[in-house]
Amino acid sequence: MSVNITSVLNETRRFEPPAGFVAAAAISAAERDRLAAWAEKDPEGFWAHHAESLHWFKKWDAVFDGSNPPFFKWFVGGTTNVSYNCLDRHLAGPHRNKAAIIWEGEPGDTRTLTYQQLHYQVCKFANGLKQLGVAKGDRVTIYMPMTPEAVIAMLACARIGAVHSVIFGGFSAEAVADRNNDAGAKLVITSDIGWRRGNAVHLKQNVDEALKKSPTVKNCVVFQRARNTSVHMHPGRDVWWHDLMSDVSADCPAEELDSEHPLFILYTSGSTGKPKGVLHTTGGYLLGAALTHKWVFDIKDEDVYWCTADVGWITGHTYIAYGPLANAATVMMYEGAPNHPREDRFWEIIEKYRVTILYTAPTAIRAFIKWGDQHPKGRDLSSLRLLGSVGEPINPEAWMWYHEVIGGGRCPIVDTWWQTETGSIMISPLPGAMFTKPGSATKPLPGIAAVVVDKEGNPVPANQGGFLVVKRPWPSMMRTIYGDDERFKATYWSNYPGIYFTADGARQDDDGYIWVMGRVDDVLNVSGHRLSTMEVESALVNHPKVAEAAVVGRPDEIKGEGICCFVTLKQGVPASDGLKDELKKHVTKEIGALARPDDVRFTDALPKTRSGKIMRRLLRDIAAGREGKGDTTTLEDYSILAKLREQDEG
Ligand code: WTA
Repeated sequence: MSVNITSVLNETRRFEPPAGFVAAAAISAAERDRLAAWAEKDPEGFWAHHAESLHWFKKWDAVFDGSNPPFFKWFVGGTTNVSYNCLDRHLAGPHRNKAAIIWEGEPGDTRTLTYQQLHYQVCKFANGLKQLGVAKGDRVTIYMPMTPEAVIAMLACARIGAVHSVIFGGFSAEAVADRNNDAGAKLVITSDIGWRRGNAVHLKQNVDEALKKSPTVKNCVVFQRARNTSVHMHPGRDVWWHDLMSDVSADCPAEELDSEHPLFILYTSGSTGKPKGVLHTTGGYLLGAALTHKWVFDIKDEDVYWCTADVGWITGHTYIAYGPLANAATVMMYEGAPNHPREDRFWEIIEKYRVTILYTAPTAIRAFIKWGDQHPKGRDLSSLRLLGSVGEPINPEAWMWYHEVIGGGRCPIVDTWWQTETGSIMISPLPGAMFTKPGSATKPLPGIAAVVVDKEGNPVPANQGGFLVVKRPWPSMMRTIYGDDERFKATYWSNYPGIYFTADGARQDDDGYIWVMGRVDDVLNVSGHRLSTMEVESALVNHPKVAEAAVVGRPDEIKGEGICCFVTLKQGVPASDGLKDELKKHVTKEIGALARPDDVRFTDALPKTRSGKIMRRLLRDIAAGREGKGDTTTLEDYSILAKLREQDEG
């Protein structure tokens, strides 16, 4: 749950978009109402109309097929290609020489690729993939730093119908191996290193480790990010990106793919230990990405649009790569940390490239607040006209700071709620069409039937908490969990028959504005990254000295949630601070630095109900330093609770 529930409940401020913004906005209030009413009355007609703006090799026979719920299909019988839509169709018109990607590396190196240049690179790399035997339907792992090559690799896969699985560079070798195996990946695309806070992140080394346990992987393509790194190239398996590119043709027509052809798998955490491979397909996903990017960011031809996410997350997929490129936008892309070499790096980039739209996360905003106003104030941010937020609830204090210090009071803020599973933004202001309230993602976009319901599925009265669900299928929805249809049904479609369950808690106010409060399952949101408590628990019990572990979130001023682990040790193992560090390192090795525990506490036993379930609510209260609330009479052993509290005080 969000850090600032109380302040959110008392929030009454409203912000109208400035008149100038409204006058130039693509979607007015009246147009928004018209679109929303149309989508309610005739959802298929509404989506079909918007899908017409994409390029189809062959038009669909049916807009929607709901005959086998929850396995819905969109634009059935139509054929298209995402790479074609993001590249080829822009080449004939005025955008051919427009900057597609303006990139800056952390060390300060820069590159710009026009649509023509990006097309050339993608076509060549797609031919390179073919040369390595990658064919339509094959899975390809992409484990790359934030360089244009990550996007080139994604688009090249999409071009030939290979299914990419991008793994965030912060994940460990273990995590890469797990994902390679689950997807049955044939190829891994990586880089010697990436740069983060002045340090080299050794991606290829991790891949070498991972490939010892990834029997399906036949080859590895290595992009050379830096000179003089000692990378071991495994003969017969590894090939340099530049060597692969040196003798391939730039002629690679885009495959005509079925609208439901898989585009990518993206692993995300659920409430069990094993990450889920969320599967997205071609036509519907592309429509969601392109349309929401156009509407929510009010994208104009002259914008310099910057989404600060990593391509390893869904936000990077939809709002660095596919959405903006489908709209022929100019995308700013930055490789490194926001505080390298100084805490004003973002503001320097905005000043230097005259960025007009900034899309970032509340956790970053809270860090900027901590670092001090002097950093943004020392830079010229007057080019900005629109700000976005994503990944977790934004507390009103952070919203106000973003509005005033970064936006100079003149930029609307779009607080966008969505998930890896939804593919594209679901709840968000349309910036020229409505007033905003700090901390509310406002209303569902036209076409999206998101509502707040109680346990039985009945709408809850205004201002009362409930569960956020989506009542009607939408084109960019996930299609399944890769290789696990049953888990897909059980996770998302079993709480309410026929209705998509988001696992978020929310309430709606008197204006119908939605306030998303956070997860109601065992998923943590740490710095906007999803992590399952069970995932961390299974990493911990994997350690030879650990008997049992329970992991909960606790409020964290910057990260939103921190990771707190309660651990019981095996008989005879002495507890020590050294062991705490060892366990933190162990989790980092098993999952990645993003899962590094903030706190490890040893306990003789874990509090459980009589049926043996760990009492997480109780542990959450202890982790947060709150007095244990609620009914604890089912506690198996009161003394455990007392001991844990004592430890907390001591
Ligand atoms: C949370 C990220 C409140 C939410 C796009 C959701 C948010 C999870 C918001 C999905 C927001 C995302 N306000 N909460 N604007 N955006 N969330 O899959 O709990 O990494 O379920 O997708 O992040 O995280 P994911």
